[in-house]
Amino acid sequence: MCGIVGYTGPRNSVQPILEGLSRLEYRGYDSAGICLKINSKLEIVKKEGKLENLRAALTETNPSSHVGIGHTRWATHGAVNNDNAHPHGNDDFAVVHNGIIENAPVLKKQLQAEGWVFKSQTDSEVFLVLLTKFAKETGDTLKAMSKAFQTIQGNSAFVAMEKSTDRLFCVKRSAPLVCGLNPVTGEAFVSSDPFALIGYAPEIFFPQDGVIGCGSVKGHTASMDFFELDLTPSTRFTAQKNAMSMDATSKGHYEHFMLKEIHEQPALMEKLVAWAIKGEGLSTYSNLKGKAPEYFHITACGTAWHAGLVIKNFFERFNNVRCCVEIASEFRYREPILKKGEVGLFISQSGETADTLACQELCHEKGLPTYSIVNTQGSTLFRHCDQNFLIHAGMEIGVASTKAFTQQVLTGYLMSMGYAGKLATVEVYQEIKTLSDRVAAICEDAAAIKEIAEKLYHKKGFIFTGRGVYFPIALEGALKLKEIAYVHAEGYAAGELKHGPIALIDDNMVNIAVLGPELFEKALSNVEEVKARRGLIFAVGPKGHPELREVSDMYYELDFNGLPNLAPVMVNVVLQLLSYHIAKLKGTDIDKPRNLAKSVTVE
Ligand code: M6R
Repeated sequence: MCGIVGYTGPRNSVQPILEGLSRLEYRGYDSAGICLKINSKLEIVKKEGKLENLRAALTETNPSSHVGIGHTRWATHGAVNNDNAHPHGNDDFAVVHNGIIENAPVLKKQLQAEGWVFKSQTDSEVFLVLLTKFAKETGDTLKAMSKAFQTIQGNSAFVAMEKSTDRLFCVKRSAPLVCGLNPVTGEAFVSSDPFALIGYAPEIFFPQDGVIGCGSVKGHTASMDFFELDLTPSTRFTAQKNAMSMDATSKGHYEHFMLKEIHEQPALMEKLVAWAIKGEGLSTYSNLKGKAPEYFHITACGTAWHAGLVIKNFFERFNNVRCCVEIASEFRYREPILKKGEVGLFISQSGETADTLACQELCHEKGLPTYSIVNTQGSTLFRHCDQNFLIHAGMEIGVASTKAFTQQVLTGYLMSMGYAGKLATVEVYQEIKTLSDRVAAICEDAAAIKEIAEKLYHKKGFIFTGRGVYFPIALEGALKLKEIAYVHAEGYAAGELKHGPIALIDDNMVNIAVLGPELFEKALSNVEEVKARRGLIFAVGPKGHPELREVSDMYYELDFNGLPNLAPVMVNVVLQLLSYHIAKLKGTDIDKPRNLAKSVTVE
């Protein structure tokens, strides 16, 4: 979603701002802009499309300024065009925004009635106008930030700059925001993601909701001050060293991050299990023994929700714990029944997904302990939960989540084994090792999967089917294909086909049938039903089943031996590679598919 980078300090701010924004490109955006203070004037340049367009425009004029704010916009209110791109500015202030101002329509009408003029269709400009109005009334930018923030509703992060000083101002509610300092160079930064600040700001600060940050530079000294909304000094922020590294940001010899991330999976699985069973994670996991809650409320979005559906099987089977897995955007608004003895478990790669965060807040308010299965240490979810289970996937750059899914499922499995007191057993270690070896072999066999992709990529639509624990794999396979190849794909429980979707089957519709050893005969009958209606079948299933080979047009055989619990992860890797190759044949933007954001920070 929207990326924000602000800078104040001795160097030309264009360089750190553009570099920071380019690091946030992977999150998805549709326009980019920058505001620079030049000769005591706020100069704004905005360009629809890629950051390159903005960079090209700046190259022409080669501006220089010691203070600036930059933004990559993922449109919510108003079309994608230069007017709606951020920053929004006037003679006195410029503002960038990530989030949604829910009462913007009402406020805009009121402000227009007072004579204020708007240049864009965005909700964000309402904050600019409020800031300007309150600054005129109070003569104090900090007061104006506070008043403007208290006037708006909804979850947002704002960064503002002013003509009259070189200060940066920021404030947020349930949206990511980080401030940074480099005490050696005397520079201050604000961003939506600490990743943008690696190498620039060794000291970072996470202000809490409703805390106003103010970055300023005096002589060679930069400072970051925090204030409550009543403008008294605030201590409601976390200070830490920026421990992130740039290692993950190279594609190496891979053509796409997605492919690199698929190939990283075998090593990551082994790293995770070693960390949990033999390393630093051991105490976290072994402390779970005998402490399983009565009920897990699992909430997540997208791929993380699919991981939750797989994990539910582990908690039910090995821990006898009832478990409900819900889409976060539904759970948060349906007044769920939450009781003592139950636990809220939130799954997220980014730890910044707005709906998932809202569910955590809801469970926390109702007194439930909250746990996360999360990738990003220091993310909002990580900071808000009582206990975190890190998935150790490293940074995931491809918008299509691959390695995070695998590590999320494995983390859920390790938790389940921890509760059951079976964590440090040869069986658990061996199964993950076997999984890692099999996934490595699948990655090596990419040519075979590519060949299948060549036969399928021009087809009209895809129905992925699975039963039991393979149903979430069917959902995940369909999600991956639609998001990166832009084709219609649905995931269905195989037994549901005949209740409606079978009407879609014809010789231009592909059934990607996922079968495991459990419920094999039942799933096979579902494949037969599709065959009888001339559907094209690509089956991914256990080896040694000539009857499946016979009924399928294409068959990818897998060895399920030694994987009594984790075979779904192996099957999923075949589907990841299939989607990747179909998307490649279609020529889509695999790592940054259209309309998508890596981290969905608005609801
Ligand atoms: O960062 P999160 O895991 O919370 O993100 C959740 C979803 O937005 C994410 O999984 C999304 O569905 C991916 N694009 C799927 O590949």
